[in-house]
Amino acid sequence: MLAEERTFVAVKPDGVERGLIGEVISRFERKGFKILAMKLLQVSDKQAEAHYAEHKGKPFYPRLIKYIQSGPIVAMVIKGYGAVESVRHIVGATNPLNADVGTIRADFAQVMEYNVIHASDSVESAEREIHIYFNDDEILDTWKTKTEELIEEDELL
Ligand code: CMP
Repeated sequence: MLAEERTFVAVKPDGVERGLIGEVISRFERKGFKILAMKLLQVSDKQAEAHYAEHKGKPFYPRLIKYIQSGPIVAMVIKGYGAVESVRHIVGATNPLNADVGTIRADFAQVMEYNVIHASDSVESAEREIHIYFNDDEILDTWKTKTEELIEEDELL
């Protein structure tokens, strides 16, 4: 059964600097996803280390930390049916060279190191990453769209 999921998305500093915040948000809105939380912030040392803990020790780790702290990011929590996988389709492959045409990374990025956007790769990582950037009281997860109500009413899923 297709479940509603929450996922974590961040427009990285290059995306913010290049004026792509609206472009990125509009792609998720058009899909019908709900934005449960969103903020512009400067990533702290602690947040950067927590976010990229799995990459610690890899050759590109120092560049990753420097990049994510090189300017403000826009962090958001997105919710929808199959949202983790669906958002990653919209975002495209990590390496923009392999990203499908029409995805955010294919359209706006050239190299893996500066790939404009981050999206969680599983429900578990999503919940972990969400809580690096948001407290529970910043996430408005109590409202439903008419479409969600209809889908539930029809027991479509
Ligand atoms: P992101 O989706 O934010 O998750 C981890 C990031 O590490 C990834 O985007 C890339 O920017 C970066 N990354 C992953 N693998 C490599 C790699 N092999 N070389 C350089 N950067 C990488």
